[in-house]
Amino acid sequence: MALEDLNLQIYGCKKCRLWLGAKHGVPGEGPLNAKVMLVGQNPGADEDEIGRPFVGRAGKFLIKVLAESGIKREDVFITNIVKHVSPQNRKPYPDEVAACVPYLNTQISVIKPKIIVLLGASAKHTPRLEGIEYIEVIHPSAAMRFNNMRDKFNKQIGELEKRMAKLTLEK
Ligand code: URA
Repeated sequence: MALEDLNLQIYGCKKCRLWLGAKHGVPGEGPLNAKVMLVGQNPGADEDEIGRPFVGRAGKFLIKVLAESGIKREDVFITNIVKHVSPQNRKPYPDEVAACVPYLNTQISVIKPKIIVLLGASAKHTPRLEGIEYIEVIHPSAAMRFNNMRDKFNKQIGELEKRMAKLTLEK
């Protein structure tokens, strides 16, 4: 399936209750041939407003930390396990994750990333497929708030960069 068609499905999705409080479905964005996919929890208020992932405070922090390790936003595919904002930015419920995860599955099967970075606990529900390396890291909104987590997050992203550099050599 083409991602444009999938995006249309996400914009119109009513498979769980979250669409009721949302302005936009936020499918995610990035190159179709991205080697690395980043999966967050779900869009926040800023993302809901403009329909793009990780554009609010946590997103700006994430992009800054990636850039410090030489990773460009435009080189990775960025999405979330759940594509609609949640009330008061609460964690998505299991039935909301279950309803939404087929969209992520399709994105993974189209993009075929070599590495999937799971940002925070909710993203750990991403289905694990053979041939893909999964790297679990702290969610940027937690890393942004707590110094000890920030240091750990910086290290984790540094490790990701090293892994990505090896990927280029493996080709
Ligand atoms: N947090 C997320 O998990 N995803 C976003 O898109 C924005 C903030």
